[in-house]
Amino acid sequence: MAETLSDLETAKKRVNELRKLINHHNYRYYVLDDPEVSDAEYDVLMNELRKLEETYPDLVTPESPTQRVGAAPVDAFGVVQHPEPMLSLGNVFSNNELLAWHKRIKNLLPGVEQIDMVAEPKMDGLAVALTYVEGVYTLGATRGDGYRGEDITQNLKTIKSVPLEVPRELVPLRFEVRGEVFMSKAAFKKLNDDRAREGLPLFANPRNAAAGSVRQLDSRITAHRSLDIFIYSLGWVQGKVPADNHWDAMQYLKRIGFKINPLNTFCRSIEEVEAFHQRIQDARSALTYETDGVVAKVNSFALQKRLGIVAREPRWAIAYKFPALQATTRLKRIEVNVGRTGSLNPLAVLEPVSIGGVTVSRAALHNEDYIREKDIREGDIVLVQRAGDVIPEIVAPVVSRRAGDEKPYVMPRKCPVCGADAVREEGGAITRCSNSACPAQALEKIKHFASRDAMDIEGVGEKLATALFEFGLVKDPADLYYLTIDQLLHLERMGEKSAAKVLDSITKSKNRPFSRLLYGLGIPQVGSETADVLARCFQNIDSLMAAKEDDLTRIMTIGPKTAHSIYVFFRQEGNQRIIEKLRRADVNLKTEEKQTTARLLVGKQFVVTGRLENFTRQEAEERVREAGGAVGSDVSRKTSYLVVGADPGSKAAKAQTLGVNTLTEQEFMDILEGRRQP
Ligand code: IVH
Repeated sequence: MAETLSDLETAKKRVNELRKLINHHNYRYYVLDDPEVSDAEYDVLMNELRKLEETYPDLVTPESPTQRVGAAPVDAFGVVQHPEPMLSLGNVFSNNELLAWHKRIKNLLPGVEQIDMVAEPKMDGLAVALTYVEGVYTLGATRGDGYRGEDITQNLKTIKSVPLEVPRELVPLRFEVRGEVFMSKAAFKKLNDDRAREGLPLFANPRNAAAGSVRQLDSRITAHRSLDIFIYSLGWVQGKVPADNHWDAMQYLKRIGFKINPLNTFCRSIEEVEAFHQRIQDARSALTYETDGVVAKVNSFALQKRLGIVAREPRWAIAYKFPALQATTRLKRIEVNVGRTGSLNPLAVLEPVSIGGVTVSRAALHNEDYIREKDIREGDIVLVQRAGDVIPEIVAPVVSRRAGDEKPYVMPRKCPVCGADAVREEGGAITRCSNSACPAQALEKIKHFASRDAMDIEGVGEKLATALFEFGLVKDPADLYYLTIDQLLHLERMGEKSAAKVLDSITKSKNRPFSRLLYGLGIPQVGSETADVLARCFQNIDSLMAAKEDDLTRIMTIGPKTAHSIYVFFRQEGNQRIIEKLRRADVNLKTEEKQTTARLLVGKQFVVTGRLENFTRQEAEERVREAGGAVGSDVSRKTSYLVVGADPGSKAAKAQTLGVNTLTEQEFMDILEGRRQP
């Protein structure tokens, strides 16, 4: 049928309407974090728009929401002008260079006999500035280009070591501190393990993970990322500066509540700085966070001022970096490990090489795409990097040293453990063994179940789990609860005492929180965060097992892929059998009820508006329902309380007109936790 002008006009009108609506919902979702419609309703609008644009390509414009492919708006952070520029540091790499720096500054300070210094670990994270007004945290910013940064106030607020208030009577009217946000090695590993399990791209190192987390537009994601901060300088101050040197300023900041690195050391000579550098370098791999060197700073503010700044680097401070932890060696071959969810994980087997005093013979290769993108071939000479405690990785092949007989890698099409077909996930990077009864998976599942973040069963680690599995005593995690002391005593090197201890820790684990059990089950796509959410929303295993995919996607943090995976997991007979065995063994399969809140809100109706810090909207509503209360979508005379979060809409005004009580998020939490009468 021929298109008529009026068809085009009608389409144009509808396209404009749809764009307006979708833009509105995008704003609610991405900027305010307060969507008004479900994902499904949003998808209907998007699909209609996409269809119309396909039919009438002339109507497509670069600003159309279809052209954005769902990316979060990147211009949502405000711009912050730093009151004083955030500088960078000059680098030295040897004692000689350090001495040369020291000589230079001595020459610039004729008549000064003694130059006291402070030496500090150089944290490998990202620089931020925090501003306090009348003792209250009011602004957080990234370094940006040194002059202007991004407003990340909310994100930094989620870092528990950032004080939100400091004693007002002890501080200048307005002052700024600067420091380094970082992620510990352990938190980094856990985050990447979770991401690997959920099929998400991995962070290359803790610094990238910290930077990525801090620059999240949704600060609730930041809140789940275990970030930390060390304050390393006092910045701009309005009013009297509370110290005349760096060391005292740090002591002062520590007193009023900031986190200062306890390794910072006062040095009376450059030799003491050298010794400090050696000490930190030796301790480097034992530290819980990554450092890439030490920073030496002239202590006196007066001397700092005299030395001044050149090319955005202060003359009064220097970074003495550690040598790069890199070496070249031959990649002998690529092996494949099978993980708990059946993922085939390629691993580089290297000719052993010493990097920073540690012999490295293996390196992570992540997945097929990683190997292809870097064009890593078996037989290549490769550049290997060790960053702190993080698993060594291959930076790149040294192409110039190729002999010509190196072999491009092909992922096996069969599981190396059980021989079943290995299938690459559609749209994903991971190849998995298709056999859910694959022994490699079974053992990994048992180890995961017993691991620290899951059921935390002391004594059931790599060795014992493997032995129990190989002897056929434990075929799935639930079998752990049926072990007898006699069975354990048959294992090598297992005395009565240690056997009793193992059984004791297995028994103890029966009462672990429900969320841990859910995490321990190893449901694909379910990391510990998702397990927490599931435990809170479903309360017990039966209601979770009964949940349909729709019930699951209604929870804001659960997408369709995860919902599908959970649904499928509980439909599998083997998994149902495991749950039954756990139930018979009396393992806790429900969320502990809080006695104080149980049914406390019967007869009350709550409405929630605006963005909450500690819950998603769904979670807050779920908590009200759990306690017997009702949830309304709009304020009316029937509403008992309106809970008001950040950026509330018109509901707050309406509540006032109707005389409905309002609650802050804190007051709401006090009620839920029984500290306040509803
Ligand atoms: S002082 C003018 N102290 O290193 C001096 N910086 O390369 C400003 N850094 O942007 C920095 N640990 O992000 C200082 N103890 C420390 C540090 C440190 C890490 C970072 C900081 C700075 C970068 C300069």
